[in-house]
Parts: sequence; C-alpha cells; structure tokens
Amino acid sequence: MNTEDLGNSKILNLLFKPAGSMMGSGARRWLMNPLKTLQCAGIQPGQTVLEVGCGTGFFTIPAAKLIGDPGCLVAMDLSSGYIEQVSKKVRNENLKNVRVVKRDALDTGLDSASIDKALLFGVIPFPLLPLNRLLPEMRRVLKPDGTLAVWLFPPMVHFWVPKSILQSGLFTYVSKRNGVYNYRRR
Ligand SMILES: C[S@@+](CC[C@H](N)C(=O)[O-])C[C@H]1O[C@@H](n2cnc3c(N)ncnc32)[C@H](O)[C@@H]1O
Repeated sequence: MNTEDLGNSKILNLLFKPAGSMMGSGARRWLMNPLKTLQCAGIQPGQTVLEVGCGTGFFTIPAAKLIGDPGCLVAMDLSSGYIEQVSKKVRNENLKNVRVVKRDALDTGLDSASIDKALLFGVIPFPLLPLNRLLPEMRRVLKPDGTLAVWLFPPMVHFWVPKSILQSGLFTYVSKRNGVYNYRRR
C-alpha cells in the first residue's frame, strides 16, 4: 500500500481519531497559543506558505489569518479524516486563502520554487515523514530566498532533529524563537 492509499485507509483514520481529538483539545490550547508560536516563524502577510501535516488544523486557521487574503496557505495532510475536519473549519471561518490538499508531503506535487515558507509544526519526527526525503522536497518547493520553520514535539527531539536538518546541507540556521527553529534554503 502506498502512502496515498494509507491516508484513505479506514484503519489508519480510526487510529488517528484519538490523536486528532488531542491535537484540537482545549487543554492544548490552554497550554499553547498557536498564534504566538506561529508569530515566531516570521510569516508575512501575502506570503505563500505550505503547512506540512496540518492534522485537524490547530495551526492552520491562525496561520491563514496571519497570511491574509493576498496570500495563500497550502494545508497538506495524508489523512482523509483530518482533511475533512480542516476543510470544515476553513469553510466555517469563511477563509478564502487556504487550499486544503490531501497528499503525501514527500511528493507534494507543488511547483518548484513556488513557496515562501514551509511549516513543519509538530510533524517531525514522524515515521511517514523521513527527513532524508522530506527535506529535499521542502528545498525543491521553496523559492531561492524561502525559509523553513520547524516547531518540535516532544521536547527530547530537540537533541537531534535540528542537527539532522543542518547535516542535510540543504538549509542554514537563522534563528530560534520560542521553540521555533528558522532556516533559510541553501
Ligand atoms: C502529530 S500530527 C500533527 C498535526 C498538526 N501539525 C498539529 O500540530 O496539530 C502529524 C500529522 O502529519 C500527518 N502526516 C504524517 N505523514 C505525512 C505525510 N507523509 N504527508 C502528509 N502528512 C503526513 C499526519 O496525518 C498527522 O496529521
């Protein structure tokens, strides 16, 4: 079964259901303000931003509001269940600047050099998103001056993920603010 089919599988979507409830829970919102975290990624109004693994949309709605109408947020996930939930939230919020895309982020199908900023928020490490395949795809879709913003969970992965990103040789470190690592495309 390829990753696209996996995203449609009833079993996977059933397994993802409890995780989805936690992702969008009031407790998470109480512990963490998604807007404040996103502000540390330096999103600018009018940008074209790719959000990898949008899940149930915890970061999607505030990111779309930061970008505003002239910009565009591509919210991507492979789970059909999550995609349905995010699409509903986007409709309810009447947001016109979000494209919700069900797709494997290892092969986004986006044009090369078309994205200002790629967000990896709460998605790495993840077994279906190996860095040795994800980072080259992120570099491909980013514009020459594009940036990658990474928010990591759980905290212990801070010990190795940032190092692996630098060792890929595809990105240079710019800053770290409030747990968000910012990199520039090389
Ligand atoms: C831990 S959840 C985080 C969701 C969201 N970013 C958040 O913080 O609430 C990881 C998400 O990545 C998605 N995902 C995993 N592998 C993927 C892939 N290869 N392509 C697209 N999405 C993927 C999962 O379906 C899931 O929604």
